[in-house]
Amino acid sequence: MFNFFKRKPAGLEIPSVLPFQTDIHSHILAGIDDGSPDIPTSLQLVKGIYDLGIRKTIATPHVIADMYRNTPAIINAALASLQEATKAAGMNIEIGAAAEYMLDDYFLKLLSEEPPLLTIHKNVILTEQSYASPSGNLNEIAFEIMKKGYRPIMAHPERYFYYHDNYAQFGHLKDMGFLLQVNVLSLTGQYGKQVTKAAKYLFDNDLADLVGTDMHHTRHLGILQNPESLALIHKYMEKRVYNDLNDF
Ligand SMILES: [Fe+2]
Repeated sequence: MFNFFKRKPAGLEIPSVLPFQTDIHSHILAGIDDGSPDIPTSLQLVKGIYDLGIRKTIATPHVIADMYRNTPAIINAALASLQEATKAAGMNIEIGAAAEYMLDDYFLKLLSEEPPLLTIHKNVILTEQSYASPSGNLNEIAFEIMKKGYRPIMAHPERYFYYHDNYAQFGHLKDMGFLLQVNVLSLTGQYGKQVTKAAKYLFDNDLADLVGTDMHHTRHLGILQNPESLALIHKYMEKRVYNDLNDF
């Protein structure tokens, strides 16, 4: 006779969704950075993360001098196009937009001028550094950001190789005032072993304040959909709830 109360042995449950419902870092807007090239791809990415349990997503196109000089007008127009397309496709997901600001001289110029920076939530902005070398005067930049009334998030600290032999730098970033956002894809080996090790360190030591998919393309989506990836992400995020924006 079929036993309705039979339980699966612990550890064999396979998650089908991500352990957070709000994504604060992705490149799903079409045609304005190195993320989605067009609306059909954007729709595929949005459908994919919706099926993974995401109900609110804030797209964060790059703003980098001489590469992606995305203005609020450009970003908001791309957002409107995607919102229209998702609505037409009957997708019930909230999509917003901010930016991922490279901490370079161009950023300092933007910080001192109008219009205001695009925020993830309230006064919170997403920032990144170059993978080649750390931003000079990071302490001063953080001070300037906060003096202007913003609160900075440092995107994917685990991906900066210049921190790999000195994890104490993660604590220093927090001391400067940065919230730390880890890419869940970092746990999967997507960016190499050293990045995975650093990401695990950030979760194990409760240094990760926020998480993001940093999804650029369908290959990233495919990795997120993999049950092994989902199991790993759940394992490292089980200590607490992430990405409740009411916390910030
Ligand atoms: Fe990104």
